[in-house]
Amino acid sequence: MNQTQTSLYERLGGHEGIARITRTLIENHMANPIVKTRYANSENLERVERRVVEFFCAGAGGPETYSGEDMLTTHRGMNVSEQEFVSVIDDAMAALDTHGIAPDARNEVLAILWSLKGEVIRV
Ligand code: HEM
Repeated sequence: MNQTQTSLYERLGGHEGIARITRTLIENHMANPIVKTRYANSENLERVERRVVEFFCAGAGGPETYSGEDMLTTHRGMNVSEQEFVSVIDDAMAALDTHGIAPDARNEVLAILWSLKGEVIRV
């Protein structure tokens, strides 16, 4: 267990690693019939991707600043379902696996994402 020595940010590969994971995450969403239209309907998916990278980096203990709105404001009015929420988390877990992220780091990301459900589902 070296969790206390190495930040989640480092274990995800720092900014570059998180940017690669996020690229795969977006690709997974675009190939996922449960959520793809949500993202296809975005007016600016590049900005969304940039902000997801920032959010992920800042949340994992990196030096980046998240420049977007909080999760409640971002998802308010979308009426996101429980099924969509689980599906987005599945896409994230698959992206972490694709990039060879170890189970301890993957489980920490899972816990962080799950903790946000009240700010995303049907808000
Ligand atoms: C814990 C899970 C989630 C996190 C951490 C998260 C995080 C984010 C972030 C950081 C953004 C970028 C905000 C911005 O551009 O200012 C975003 C946008 C977005 N999220 Fe989520 N999200 C989550 C779950 C979901 C779910 C389940 C859906 C529905 C399928 C969803 C749909 C969207 C869409 C469509 C956008 C783009 C909105 C736009 O075009 O402006 N998100 N999300």
